[in-house]
Amino acid sequence: MSNIGNYDKQVKNFTWEISEKELEYKKGDVINIGEYCSDRICRLGKGDKLALIWQGHSGDVKKYTFDRMRVLTNTIAQYLVDKEIKPGERVCLFMDKIPELYFGFLGILKMGGICQPLFSAFGGESLFTRLEDAETTAVLTQKKHLGKIRKIVQDLPHLKHIIVVDDEGRKPLREKECSFSMEKEKGIEHFDIYPATAETPSVLHYTSGTTGKPKGALHVHYSLVSQYMTAKYVLDFQEEDIYWCTADPGWVTGTSYGIIGPWSNGITQCVLDAGFRVESWYRFIRDHGITVWYSAPTAIRSLMKDGTAAAKKFNLSSLRHLCSVGEPLNSEAVIWSTKAYGLTFHDTFWQTETGSMMISNYPGMKIKPGSMGKPFPAVSATVVDLKTHEPIEKPGIVGLIAIKPGWPSMFRTYWNNEEVYKSKFINGWYICGDRASIDEEGYFWFVGRDDDVINTGGHLVGPFEVESALIEHEAIAESAVVGKPDPVNMEVVKAFITLNPGYEPTDMLELKIMNFIRKKLSPLAMPQEIEFMDKLPKTRSGKIMRRMLKAKEWGEEIGDTSTLEDE
Ligand code: WT7
Repeated sequence: MSNIGNYDKQVKNFTWEISEKELEYKKGDVINIGEYCSDRICRLGKGDKLALIWQGHSGDVKKYTFDRMRVLTNTIAQYLVDKEIKPGERVCLFMDKIPELYFGFLGILKMGGICQPLFSAFGGESLFTRLEDAETTAVLTQKKHLGKIRKIVQDLPHLKHIIVVDDEGRKPLREKECSFSMEKEKGIEHFDIYPATAETPSVLHYTSGTTGKPKGALHVHYSLVSQYMTAKYVLDFQEEDIYWCTADPGWVTGTSYGIIGPWSNGITQCVLDAGFRVESWYRFIRDHGITVWYSAPTAIRSLMKDGTAAAKKFNLSSLRHLCSVGEPLNSEAVIWSTKAYGLTFHDTFWQTETGSMMISNYPGMKIKPGSMGKPFPAVSATVVDLKTHEPIEKPGIVGLIAIKPGWPSMFRTYWNNEEVYKSKFINGWYICGDRASIDEEGYFWFVGRDDDVINTGGHLVGPFEVESALIEHEAIAESAVVGKPDPVNMEVVKAFITLNPGYEPTDMLELKIMNFIRKKLSPLAMPQEIEFMDKLPKTRSGKIMRRMLKAKEWGEEIGDTSTLEDE
């Protein structure tokens, strides 16, 4: 029997108080996610249970019990306190998926800091924008990433501590830099955990929009009430499960369900700190006996490319429940997974801003391949009219996905940007910015985003960020960036550019520009294709018509360009 049992019954009966009760939390109590994920699990008698099974790219494995994790997270928390980092200050994690990243996350929360995880493949500019915006005080990083921080530190007056977690005092360090070895430090048995309450800020996740710089979605400790229960019901955690979330904690899936969800449920999880390779993924599942697997459509499509035979080569019989998030999970992938693993991927829909799953397919519920499923019990979701923002009553009509505010893990603001935050709420609904329709049985069907943000392999890339970075290249005069369809990554970044006088459109220049963006922003933001143009299509007021270029890439009708030109 699954944890959720009968979905329809849960819709009638479930309230967030049930989650609060299970967590033994009462309104006004202290609630610190760091405590809930380690100390509390030990108090419940599971101190000797494995919390983390970690595997590096060379195959080395490290294992940590909940009790060891409790001590190591205390040790990190104490170190930050000794550095005089204060509650409420932003502490960034800029590391690969090493154990220090996971324990650093809980350590920061334990001392009351606001944790700002950033993807370690980010280039200097992506890193700089986010550290500058958050006025981040400290960064925990690895020596291999130190170079990127050194290049920008002089322009970040708020950044006081650069803590290198894997250096062991070998590298000559500069001003503001210090070396800290979690495992070599004296373990701290008792740490005074910061008495956070429901609305105390916890995590700051940056996400890209159509315009402007990336925005920091701010979450609070009370988000646990959503994350704990959605993990329990949707990922269906059972005591003996060995769970694998493939997401990097630089993105929200990697924190909400790669840290908080499993550990607040006292579940053992595995982490693979290595890139994607079909065989190594299957070997990882087999070797560790993974039972619950949370991944993304791009990975699933990559596995599909190697066919069912590759899957059959390994004994994957430990798997019992599969979930997916980040992009539309096409029905072919759902049907394929049934053939390859004898199990169906359960699609889930949510966002950085929602902090936890909003619409999902639940164990035991009828799955309609291609549908995102139904709202989590106690989440009120609908689609609203594209213009009036009134709920659409009739099935099958496309509108904007809208959610009634009030679920515990809702973001509380965009850092330094209350105005944009407020603009997301219309007629009493939080508007996600995605288009969908709902069928007669209440299943949600994703249609597409309502803006120009590019979703590449489940990661959002803001076209404006890439356009701004492009024009910093000496050869480029103007740029427009759109998503181009891609069979595996759903979309990839494509750039249209015009050149400054004296530059020729050559293959060499194209490669140089690609590399320029990869280094400056990230491999995800790097255009996979650059088209040199004599001029870019513009409105009469001089705005570049990104939409027209996008329509061309998608083979869609461009429509009436005269109206476009008037925009
Ligand atoms: C956007 C949010 C929170 C998960 C990681 C992404 C798209 C997410 C689905 C899905 C179709 C999906 C939407 C959404 N998206 N899940 N199941 N089907 N699209 O978090 O980076 O904030 O991106 O990802 O466009 O708005 P994010």
